[in-house]
Amino acid sequence: MHMTAPRILTLTLALLAADPALARAAREPVLGGPCEHCDWVFEGIPARVPNVARIGTSNEPGEPMRIDGVVRDAEGAPAIGVIVYAYHTDASGHYPSRGAHPAARRHGRLRGWARTDAQGRYAFLTIRPAGYPGTDIPQHVHLHVIEPGHGTYWIDDLIFTDDPRLTEAQRRSHEQGRGGIGTATPVRDASGHWRVRRDIVLRAGIGS
Ligand SMILES: [Fe+2]
Repeated sequence: MHMTAPRILTLTLALLAADPALARAAREPVLGGPCEHCDWVFEGIPARVPNVARIGTSNEPGEPMRIDGVVRDAEGAPAIGVIVYAYHTDASGHYPSRGAHPAARRHGRLRGWARTDAQGRYAFLTIRPAGYPGTDIPQHVHLHVIEPGHGTYWIDDLIFTDDPRLTEAQRRSHEQGRGGIGTATPVRDASGHWRVRRDIVLRAGIGS
């Protein structure tokens, strides 16, 4: 899904008015090679990006899942104010277009942004996605990093070791070393909700 030539990101007027820092970030380059519709990363972004972001609504069909992670730089220091963008399929394996931002329909409506706090932490409240129907594609969460002052880039999907579809070949195809390790093992908490970690290393494997 990352096939078009890199380019300077476009910017919505709403974003310009909302947050000058985000407006600057949206003008920064796409790093780390081609990315299909990287400008969609900014389409519909809220004026104030929360530290813990809900994707969809609390009524979204599916098994609730919380994604937690810490973003660090190459030296291991927490990265503050970095935005993580995530999108994924619904519980039936589709990217639901109804209700999605018009410019980002192919990402579906299950998408969100979380900004790292003073300890580099971010989190998403969402549901566990399904793999694409009729394929062997495993469950995955697409992730991009918006790193103010440097640029935007996609990182390896979050994939799950307990996914029955996940073969060694599939694991390798989703582990390119971008942004650290995307493979993780979800566990159920006391409420039966899934918890999973996706720590991120800034620009790891990005090449610029
Ligand atoms: Fe996908």
